[in-house]
Amino acid sequence: KNTAMSILKRSLLKIIVIGDSGVGKTSLMNQYVHKKFTHQYKATIGADFSTKEIQIDDKLVTLQIWDTAGQERFHSLGAAFYRGADCCVLVFDVNLLRSFETLQNWHEEFLKQADPVNPESFPFVLIGNKVDVNYGRSQAVPEMTVKDWCASRGNIPYYETSAKEDYNVDHAFTSIARIALAYE
Ligand code: GTP
Ligand code: MG
Repeated sequence: KNTAMSILKRSLLKIIVIGDSGVGKTSLMNQYVHKKFTHQYKATIGADFSTKEIQIDDKLVTLQIWDTAGQERFHSLGAAFYRGADCCVLVFDVNLLRSFETLQNWHEEFLKQADPVNPESFPFVLIGNKVDVNYGRSQAVPEMTVKDWCASRGNIPYYETSAKEDYNVDHAFTSIARIALAYE
């Protein structure tokens, strides 16, 4: 029927989004997939995924984005879905130092649970969310600290976003798709 579409190669990419409770993982996914944002906080229990189809060069990519629970008591439920991931997105709140400090644990825990064939080359992406809060004032997590951390872990790409203002969300996820595609 659609010849333009039929010549495109297809790909299904599994993306796992992890990080502390309240940093905005669900909000980022809802903004990216559904173009919606709500101020109400509803904790994610376990994990759930949404899909979005995008075209990258000559490929029709289905992004299967797994939004997991940050809350400690639901954490292990989410970790059960790490296996088979093509990319792991680590999220922190740029206004909350604690949410940056725990990334170390999230990173280690992911590699342990997902158990990728080649842990050294497994692609991670870092997102610093909620840049709309305190915009223009000194950041709780200095950019240099973030850049150093990324560099020490094999140059993890870093994006600053606001799920609330829909700032840089599309760009971040398109980059994530490209990175996952290159690894797949
Ligand atoms: P868990 O499911 O518990 O792991 O939390 P989460 O990471 O999914 O956080 P969630 O997306 O539910 O967001 C937590 C709160 O932060 C909600 O009240 C959101 O409205 C708010 N929030 C999320 N992103 C942003 C943002 O970019 N800016 C601002 N100002 N608030 C945000
Ligand atoms: Mg959530």
